[in-house]
Amino acid sequence: MRIGVLTGGGDCPGLNAVIRAVTKSLIHQCGAAVIGIEDGYLGLIEHRVRPLDWRAVSGLIATGGTILGTSNRANPLSHGGRDVGDEVVAYARELGLDGVVAIGGDGTMAIAHALQQRGLPTVGVPKTIDNDVMHVERSFGFDTAVAIASEALERVQTTGQSHGRVMIVETMGRHAGWIALEAGIAAAADVILLPEIAHDVEAVAAVCRERERRQRFTVICVAEGVQASAAQGIADALRTRIASEVRATVLGHVQRGGAPTPADRVLATLYGDAAAELVRAGAWGAMVSHEGGRMGRVALGDVAGQTRRVPGDHPLIDCARRIGVSFGHA
Ligand code: F6P
Repeated sequence: MRIGVLTGGGDCPGLNAVIRAVTKSLIHQCGAAVIGIEDGYLGLIEHRVRPLDWRAVSGLIATGGTILGTSNRANPLSHGGRDVGDEVVAYARELGLDGVVAIGGDGTMAIAHALQQRGLPTVGVPKTIDNDVMHVERSFGFDTAVAIASEALERVQTTGQSHGRVMIVETMGRHAGWIALEAGIAAAADVILLPEIAHDVEAVAAVCRERERRQRFTVICVAEGVQASAAQGIADALRTRIASEVRATVLGHVQRGGAPTPADRVLATLYGDAAAELVRAGAWGAMVSHEGGRMGRVALGDVAGQTRRVPGDHPLIDCARRIGVSFGHA
C-alpha cells in the first residue's frame, strides 16, 4: 500500500503529531509506504513529494508547525484561474498512490471531497484551533490555543489590578467563539464576547463601571469573530463610556505556534491512528470524527462548507452566567 499525506490550511499545534501517528500506524500495521506531500495541495500541483519513513517522523510529537509545510491558498480546482483537479489526480496515480490522507480545515475537506469524486481516494483529518469543524467535539490544537489565551488573560489581569484598568484580550476564532469561551472561563474573565451572542456595548460598559467601584479592574475576553478589529473596536467604544483607562491586546498567531500541550499530543495521536485505521478499512471519502468522546468517521461531503458554532444554550455558557460572567447584555 502506498499512501500520500498532506497538511492544508493554517498551521496548528499537533499537526506533526498527526503526521507521526498516521505514518507510524500505517508502517507498523501494514508495512505501507508513506509519501509526504509538500505545502498541501500545492505539492500535488507542483509535483513536490518526499518519502516519509519511520525515522523521518520520529521525534516530532512535541514539535509545532508541520514538517510538510502547508498552504491555505492552494486549490487544484482553481489554480491561477485554471481547474487542475484532473492533473492532480493523474499525478497521484503516477506516484502509485492508493490514496491520500488530507489533514486540514473546512477548506481542505471541501477540496478533498471534490477530488475524491474525481478519483483521488482520500481520508480527511480535521484540523482547527478554532474547534469549529462539524462532527468534531474536540480538535487537536484547541487545548493549546486555550492554554495560551488563558495565560495571556491572567497576565493582563495583574496590570488591570495594578492600574485600575479595563484589559481586553482578543483571541482567534473567526466564525466561532470556542477559544474565547473556554479561555475566558479558565482565566476568570469578567466579560466574554462571542460571535454567536450579540452584545450591547452599553451593557459591557455597565459591568466595567460597576467593577470600577468594587474592584477597580475588568478583564474582557473577546473572539476575533465578534467584529472587525474586535478588541480595538470594543476598547474605543468603552473609552467614551467609562472613566478607567482601557488597553487592548490582540493575541493572533501566538495561539497557533509552538509545542502542543500534552492533551493535544494525545488527541493528535488518536486522530492520526484513526485516519490510518480508515485507510486500512478502505473507508475512502470519510473524515475522522470525534463525537461522544470517541473517534469515528463521517462522510467528507457532510462536513464541507459547514461551521460548528457555540450554541447559545451550551452548558458552559449557562455555567458562566450562573457564576456572574457577563456575555455583554443587560
Ligand atoms: O481558522 C483558524 C484561524 O486561526 C482563525 O481563527 C484566524 O482568523 C485565521 O486562522 C488566521 O489565518 P491566517 O494565518 O491566514 O492569518
